[in-house]
Amino acid sequence: AAPISLTTLTTMKEQREPIAALTCYDASFARLLAAAGVDVVLVGDSLGMVLQGHATTVPVTLDHMVYHSACVARGRGRALLVADLPFLAAATPERALQAAGRLMQEGGAAVVKIEGGAPVLETVRLLSDQGVPVCAHLGLQPQSVHRLGGYRFQGRDEASADAIRGDALALEQAGASLLVLECVPRTLAAEVRARLRIPVIGIGAGADCDGQVLVLHDMLGINLGHVPRFSRDFMTGGDSVIAAVRRYVQAVKSGTFPGPAETLY
Ligand code: KIV
Ligand code: NA
Repeated sequence: AAPISLTTLTTMKEQREPIAALTCYDASFARLLAAAGVDVVLVGDSLGMVLQGHATTVPVTLDHMVYHSACVARGRGRALLVADLPFLAAATPERALQAAGRLMQEGGAAVVKIEGGAPVLETVRLLSDQGVPVCAHLGLQPQSVHRLGGYRFQGRDEASADAIRGDALALEQAGASLLVLECVPRTLAAEVRARLRIPVIGIGAGADCDGQVLVLHDMLGINLGHVPRFSRDFMTGGDSVIAAVRRYVQAVKSGTFPGPAETLY
């Protein structure tokens, strides 16, 4: 089958075929995920927690992201490779452009993900004008955990929901090609996905998104630390990693993940 592009994902949105995404940090898992039918592999800065053992994503550097992205690129098959800009790498548009260049040229990323709304609009415009496909990221923004004082659901009151709606539209207008919505109520995610032309991939955002993403170590039961309640252990009752990933892809495509147990608001 042909490699998955942003056009493929937009067509999937239009045809209401859910997009199955997972985080990935190395070549072996990339090969396995691609073989199991995962559409998008996300080299997330969550690697700071699940690979490096930190409590947050804040210590992750651009060099770490480039290294893991290059590893995933060698195994990704037809899956689309999205890589995170780490903490402060998008603090200025110029800095973001440089960092995105490294993720694409050295790391083999096809799309670069940036956390934030209004403060990163100018950056999103610059990157997309320069030919860098951008995945925006709204709702819970883990890089801001120290300012937020913890990992909490977002968009539960009207003012914060309005800000997310407005930011989502503005990011699409600024040229973003994808949007990750993390930890927002199901109804808010449903509204945003209906209003945007670009695909919306949810994590802890209910079933009414254009796709789902989970942290690999959480959905394989490898993470013995804190696993968020919106995740599901797909190894349970199974005997192989590739079968677990196939069950995840099947659950996303058939709309049975997330179910009521993983839909918190
Ligand atoms: O770093 C990460 O894994 C992410 C996803 C959870 C969206 O940003
Ligand atoms: Na991330």
